[in-house]
Amino acid sequence: MSGTAEGTEQLLARRAQAQEREELARAKQHERGRQTARERIDRLLDDGSFTEVDRYRREPLGAPGTPRPEGDAVVTGHGTVDGRPVAVYAQDFTVLGGSVSLTVGQKVAKVMDVAAKAGMPIVGINDSGGARIQGGLVALTGYGEIFRRNVALSGVVPQLSLMMGPCAGGAAYSPAMTDFVLMVRQSSYMFVTGPEVIRAVTGERVDAETLGGADTHATRSGVAHLATDSEDECIEDAQALLSFLPSNYRSLAPDAPPGAAPEGHRDVGRIVPTDPQRSYDMRNVIRNIVDDEDFLEIQPEWAMTMICGFARLDGVAVGIYGNQPQVRAGVIDIDASEKAARFIRTCNAYNIPLVCFADVPGYLPGVEQEWGGIIRHGAKLIFAWTEATVPKLTINTRKAYGGAYGVMGAKQLLGDVNLAWPQAELAVMGAEGAVSVLGRRELKEAADPEAKRAELLERYRRELLTPYPAAERGYVDDVIDPAETRDKLIAALHALRPKFQDVIERKHSNIPL
Ligand code: HXC
Repeated sequence: MSGTAEGTEQLLARRAQAQEREELARAKQHERGRQTARERIDRLLDDGSFTEVDRYRREPLGAPGTPRPEGDAVVTGHGTVDGRPVAVYAQDFTVLGGSVSLTVGQKVAKVMDVAAKAGMPIVGINDSGGARIQGGLVALTGYGEIFRRNVALSGVVPQLSLMMGPCAGGAAYSPAMTDFVLMVRQSSYMFVTGPEVIRAVTGERVDAETLGGADTHATRSGVAHLATDSEDECIEDAQALLSFLPSNYRSLAPDAPPGAAPEGHRDVGRIVPTDPQRSYDMRNVIRNIVDDEDFLEIQPEWAMTMICGFARLDGVAVGIYGNQPQVRAGVIDIDASEKAARFIRTCNAYNIPLVCFADVPGYLPGVEQEWGGIIRHGAKLIFAWTEATVPKLTINTRKAYGGAYGVMGAKQLLGDVNLAWPQAELAVMGAEGAVSVLGRRELKEAADPEAKRAELLERYRRELLTPYPAAERGYVDDVIDPAETRDKLIAALHALRPKFQDVIERKHSNIPL
């Protein structure tokens, strides 16, 4: 047999062994209601586009008995999603619990380096027991390889983390440093210390799902950006997210063909009750303005007084954030500030224009909020908006009072285009509060205090609770009929798209974390 033929035979034999391992893995994972690493990659990428690298890489010979499976516990490579290149790695739980050895770290590092060089997003599919216990400190070095690239690539190429199994220790921290964390309900868990350790140390009894399941992280901690009921839906969410993101910080998100204007876009103003005490769902406003009524909400169940998400206007991807009057009147609290600030920074890092829908009564008052640091957390939102250099458009749909006026897309904090609907109330405070402060003496001296109060309220509303004082000073560029909103936003977006804003040279700003 010639050398070449022998070599080919060996290769085919190795491939057959790999196929056998894959079949065993499939049986194990399917039994747990999960897919294998390769099946997940195949679902994510365009058909037949996956190119695997390092399939033979494994741990060097070490202590006798130390397992060194071929390919180790991760599958790595690259392919395309919707025709666009993406680097990918998927941990293989059937190999030593998907644990991270130095080899696993180096394999992941290699594809992350390719992603950085080629300017393509990296998607990590996580299913891992954390650092390989047998590997000792060397395994921790494997995590070091991944962690430092999570940081180095932050803001360079989008990083998505799909959580599809138990993820403890380092397996939780690496995703936490990426741009988006997507979890699967009843199947993925994230925690720094698991239920057993917690019981031993603090005596608290909690199961894995309650401690760190998808619902916990999507509703309580804010760690998860999206939660789904199945792996397939999680992958679909990842594909949708990628469609709104550019491949790297030097490019723009790809334009889609201009979508249809929502049927109700000329009637969008009717969604907002004129009575400022009555609530409405800001998502209805957003959906009635964006292309095809398509709005991908991020963290929809956490910090629900604030809405964040992606959509398109005339085919151009935009990041939208806004108050949600339907939840506690849309008041801004600690979590809402963090949610919007992080979202704004993600959009800014990846050149995605921002659209702010403001209807905000103020910051949430209370001892708990003050002691919790609403000052420094609330400052994040002011900071992130002011610092963002992408096109920034704001619509004031109803009210914006006081400090909260400032943080919801204000012109004074470098908003590019500020539009208000005719019923918008832009002022230092609402009528009741203002009259009780400004009219105190007049009310005290009045023969009929109730009639006086009504008169003062009416005057305050007429003179100060309209968008016109702001428009007179240029803080609002135009007061528009709500029916014009979609057209005006699209025109502003096209005009501002080439926006270029110099930033002062420095190491980096110091956002209050
Ligand atoms: C080596 C591991 C492993 C690990 C799991 N396995 N985790 N092997 N290192 N970290 C192996 C198991 O021994 C088992 O092998 C197989 O994977 C499946 O694990 P099970 O326990 O049977 O599965 P399950 O019941 O689903 O539980 C999954 C789990 C649990 C919750 C992840 O395995 C677990 O608690 N593992 C340890 C988690 C942990 O504390 N990791 C270290 C984190 S510290 P067999 O041969 O029996 O099939 C860390 C620091 C990073 O990550 C810091 C970086 C700087």
